[in-house]
Amino acid sequence: MISILVGNTKGGCGKTTMATNLAVAMASAGRQVLLADADKQHSSLLWAARRPSHLAAIATCSWSRGEALKVPRGVDRLIMDAPAAMRRGQIEELVDMADIIVIPVLPSVFDEDGSRQFLKKLSDIKAVRRNRKILALVGNRVRANTRAAARLDLFLNGAGLNVLTRLRDSQLYSEVANVGLGLFDLKDKRTEVFRADWEPLLSYIEDGVL
Ligand SMILES: Nc1ncnc2c1ncn2[C@@H]1O[C@H](COP(=O)(O)OP(=O)(O)OP(=O)(O)O)[C@@H](O)[C@H]1O
Ligand SMILES: [Mg+2]
Repeated sequence: MISILVGNTKGGCGKTTMATNLAVAMASAGRQVLLADADKQHSSLLWAARRPSHLAAIATCSWSRGEALKVPRGVDRLIMDAPAAMRRGQIEELVDMADIIVIPVLPSVFDEDGSRQFLKKLSDIKAVRRNRKILALVGNRVRANTRAAARLDLFLNGAGLNVLTRLRDSQLYSEVANVGLGLFDLKDKRTEVFRADWEPLLSYIEDGVL
């Protein structure tokens, strides 16, 4: 099983959007996915409740602090949606379950500051310091050829971590989320370019780096 934690203590950077879209991408590729929602807001669970039953199945569970996470037999991709507000103990619990920690970062100085604080907290965890966890950054809501995108690039490239992809800013994300979908439920040509943004991240996870 590969376990992916989508986390950043900065609120609203796209954790749930990334977790739900990763779940759809992997389930559509035939994986048995468990989407574990560690956020009391339960955004991922509410999303899954809106998901039409004829689409690729995604098992879900809520995961509260201090609880053991029960992963059903057969699950080969665990995706964990982290809350923004997390104390050190909860970060440690989530990181402990993860092979890879995917960290969305928005193009804003406030998000850079928040992400830096999260990276610092991660670096205090022994398993991270000993390189037993893969940390990967993803630029989110990127508008190409803007000053904000150039600034975000400086931050991402200067962090000394894997930068797996940049996801463009698009209303499509909220449109699909509204009806329990992810981009990989859509198959039309018009939306292909949005799915293409995900390919470097998906192939990094799927092509044997873990
Ligand atoms: N690439 C994107 N393009 C456009 N909108 C996006 C994109 N990614 C996320 N959003 C929007 O940004 C908002 C916040 O996203 P999301 O809820 O996924 O963030 P979060 O990190 O899970 O927030 P929280 O910290 O509250 O859990 C949502 O309205 C979502 O639709
Ligand atoms: Mg969320």
